[in-house]
Amino acid sequence: MSDERNHFYVTTPIYYVNDQPHIGHAYTTILADVLARYHRLLGIPTHFLTGTDEHGQKVQQAATQRGVTPQEHVDTYVTRFTDLWQHLDITHDDFIRTTEPRHKKIVQHVLAELFARDEIYRAEYDGWYCVTCERFYTEKDLDAGKCPEPGCHKPVEKIRETNYFFRMSKYQDWLIEYIEEHPSFIQPDFRRNETLGFLRKPLTDLCISRPKTRMSWGIELPFDPDFVTYVWFDALLNYVSAIGYGVDDTQFRQWWPASMHLIGKDILTTHTVYWPTMLHAMGLPMPKTIFAHGWWLIGRDKMSKSAGNVVNPMELAARYGVDAFRYFLMAEMVLGQDASFTQEGFVRRYNADLANDLGNLLSRVVRMTVSHFDGKIPSPGALATEEKYLQEVTVAAVIGMRDAVERMRMDQGISGLAGAIREANRYLELRQPWALAKQGPAARGLMGTTLYCAAETLRMVSGMLYPVMPEKMAVLRAALGCTAGAPDYTRLSHWGELKVGTPLQPIKPLFPRISFEQASTSPEPKSQPASSSKSGKKASALPEGLISFDTFGSLDLRVAQIESAEKVQGADKLLCLQVLVGAEKRQIVAGLATSYAPEDLVGKQVVIVANLAPARIRGVESQGMLLAADGEDQLRVITVEPGAAHGAKVR
Ligand code: MSP
Repeated sequence: MSDERNHFYVTTPIYYVNDQPHIGHAYTTILADVLARYHRLLGIPTHFLTGTDEHGQKVQQAATQRGVTPQEHVDTYVTRFTDLWQHLDITHDDFIRTTEPRHKKIVQHVLAELFARDEIYRAEYDGWYCVTCERFYTEKDLDAGKCPEPGCHKPVEKIRETNYFFRMSKYQDWLIEYIEEHPSFIQPDFRRNETLGFLRKPLTDLCISRPKTRMSWGIELPFDPDFVTYVWFDALLNYVSAIGYGVDDTQFRQWWPASMHLIGKDILTTHTVYWPTMLHAMGLPMPKTIFAHGWWLIGRDKMSKSAGNVVNPMELAARYGVDAFRYFLMAEMVLGQDASFTQEGFVRRYNADLANDLGNLLSRVVRMTVSHFDGKIPSPGALATEEKYLQEVTVAAVIGMRDAVERMRMDQGISGLAGAIREANRYLELRQPWALAKQGPAARGLMGTTLYCAAETLRMVSGMLYPVMPEKMAVLRAALGCTAGAPDYTRLSHWGELKVGTPLQPIKPLFPRISFEQASTSPEPKSQPASSSKSGKKASALPEGLISFDTFGSLDLRVAQIESAEKVQGADKLLCLQVLVGAEKRQIVAGLATSYAPEDLVGKQVVIVANLAPARIRGVESQGMLLAADGEDQLRVITVEPGAAHGAKVR
């Protein structure tokens, strides 16, 4: 993802300083952090910029309401972002505030130059203004007389005034051609098409000023003290002002053009139309990629203050741990599409991937190595088919993650790594080192091989997950006796790097299991749909009635063993089953009472949907769903051939 000059410059949008930071802000910044950490580990010079957008009408209004100056207001509020980034372990190289002199100076420098070259002119303006979006619209832009922005739709004000305009319209043909010739410029592809669609209508010139009589909190125009700069024209320039444009040419040339501007889908036009035309007028090359991600929905709903469902990242990280929160966000969102957040979904993924699979594997390996090999990595013998298979899966997952980062499919890369961890647990179930321990010296060789191979999978996977969960993976790697500090990415995909005899460190559980009761003490939405947009439509068009592979992949189907079954009081059709799913016990309520006597079900290995949101059925909690086929008058449960342990994934 770095360019020919082998550098990586990644940016987030600069956030409105007035806003209460939410999961959407946290997501973009964590994504940028993960990308920056990957590139640094690959030895690529990296620069990561984030910051705050501090001018504009809303800031001025908020300051007036609080009875403070706008500068005092932003100085107080900016700490919510700086504190959050510190808390979330964000490793930005720079944090820019648009009220800083270094930024204001460059905005004025650019304005003066564009004005001198007649790229900016003065004219009378007549149009509609949305205070929330701080944008002007023409009559035909409006949607039923309201702001046309999908997330806004607020009433607009009629405005007639003199202003300054940037000659954006003259770059329309150039921009269309540039976008068409550079497929990686706007990503994902459907967002590129969205911008090209927008450019099918004639482009107007961009109003880049606000008269001080109406709004004075902004950067004064260098050629007319009665006006301040339009907040978007000011804000977009942060990407160059922060790296020394117009001041430090060496620094600027080191980083520009940016490798990746990460943005949300709602600020596509400003970044893929305003910004490129501004850069072109300034004579600067284009950023390599502008990547627009989707939105976090809360359950099915848009997050908003009025709906009272704003997810506070600080609280989540405090409750479940910073690294688990980072992991969830990266694993869950298919980049480009909307994703759904629910506490239940979070807890399920946490318990499945981190507590059960990863944490469990680590504690098994460490515990048995400590008890049977004096706490030192045992020597592996020759690798049989089973070991070679684990090796293959692990190496493929490491390479898959590298490839996934390049393709901006973090979710797929992480799912491959989680798959390798599951495979290692399955491998342990197969080799049963705990049983080998009881067989005396003859089985010691195989036991050593088993523990070595499982530890090797942990070493490789934890190295790849290090940028996602830096703190926990450092602890895990220290426990495995890996050298301190960041993993060496040049050697990460080599199987067999773990040194025989390295002492392991016993550790406390990395990811203690979370119970649903614990999780449900905070407000949460009721439903948990798969990734969907507000309209319920998938972003990628599929023929009606078909689902995508990703949708199928979001089902966590598992083998479960029925331990006991009993009738649910007062419900003729229901049985309450206690099942084992790997190390986990679950209760499932199923409509099987007219098809089976409870005792007939005990001992059966069945298939369950393990990531279905828990529900109360006739007052009894059901944690998943059992699959059954329609028989003649009865249901027939789907069972699994011997040889698959409970907890195994069904694909
Ligand atoms: N200040 C402008 C950006 C200027 S960049 C030169 C801005 N700020 S913002 O604070 O409103 O939004 C910042 C980012 O948060 C945007 O990328 C926006 O898409 C993103 N998100 C806002 N709500 C979101 C979700 N619910 N989910 C994911 N991201 C969301 O716009």
